Amino acid sequence: MLFAKYLIFSSMVLGAQLSLYPTQRFLFVEISAMAKIPCSSKEKLEGGGISVCWYRRREGEGPTCIKKCLNDQNVSKLACKPETCGMTLEIYNVQQKESGDYYCAVKSSSYLIFNNGTTLIVGDSYTSNNWVLLLVPSPHGLISTGTVDLACIVHGVSNPVQISWNISGDLQEQVLMRSLKAKDGSLMLISHLSIPKDTWTSVKIFTCEVKFNSSGSSVKKSARYFERE
Ligand SMILES: *[C@@H]1O[C@H](CO)[C@@H](O)[C@H](O)[C@H]1NC(C)=O
Ligand SMILES: *[C@@H]1O[C@H](CO)[C@@H](O)[C@H](O)[C@H]1NC(C)=O
Ligand SMILES: *[C@@H]1O[C@H](CO)[C@@H](O)[C@H](O)[C@H]1NC(C)=O
Ligand SMILES: *[C@@H]1O[C@H](CO)[C@@H](O)[C@H](O)[C@H]1NC(C)=O
Repeated sequence: MLFAKYLIFSSMVLGAQLSLYPTQRFLFVEISAMAKIPCSSKEKLEGGGISVCWYRRREGEGPTCIKKCLNDQNVSKLACKPETCGMTLEIYNVQQKESGDYYCAVKSSSYLIFNNGTTLIVGDSYTSNNWVLLLVPSPHGLISTGTVDLACIVHGVSNPVQISWNISGDLQEQVLMRSLKAKDGSLMLISHLSIPKDTWTSVKIFTCEVKFNSSGSSVKKSARYFERE
């Protein structure tokens, strides 16, 4: 399934008067701790006919509004904390099932805008069944089009993970992601990168890095182009 953010961006960015900044793409939080998800903007996000709603998209679900930032009283689970520039969503006693993509949506009289979203990863998504595979064009295959496709496959996770690409030092996190659910309920995530053929043949090394938890360690798979004999 396509990650919903791509659909949201193409169809719902209706105005540009109010702007939201890209936020931290991935956020790791321990189970039972508090998650603080920022939504940063150029201006205050309260009053003046502006309303904010937090959307969550979990695996296999569509995005749903989980929290409207109205007068917050007696919050036990979700709270909106207004900042000088923006709004922070606080989630108390966060659990693994709350992992997912979080977007803030700001509505003014005539338009609705979404930020780029943050992927919240609660606890450890690493399991003994994990493997990571990097697929690249075959060295013997003819490259006939102007672009080549690389895919990083992460098998056997229970929750989202952070997948990033390092293209000879150039980091990329905003790539197309798909996920498949296996019979046992585990997920297979596929991060797909389409690059110009010249980049593939000239860059020294491509690395896909997968972070499953906040431990600081990661799993890396690298590949490079070899000239045909
Ligand atoms: C979201 O990310 C895309 C690509 O990185 C960027 O072009 C766009 O301006 C960003 N949008 C917002 C609202 O941050
Ligand atoms: C807050 O919760 C307490 C008990 O949980 C209740 O007595 C009180 O009326 C609530 N206040 C508001 C403003 O909802
Ligand atoms: C990206 O890869 C280069 C080698 O190609 C390496 O020197 C650099 O440290 C890597 N950056 C990160 C953030 O992993
Ligand atoms: C975290 O992820 C690493 C792989 O990056 C894995 O080896 C480790 O077992 C995971 N769990 C913890 C608690 O570090």
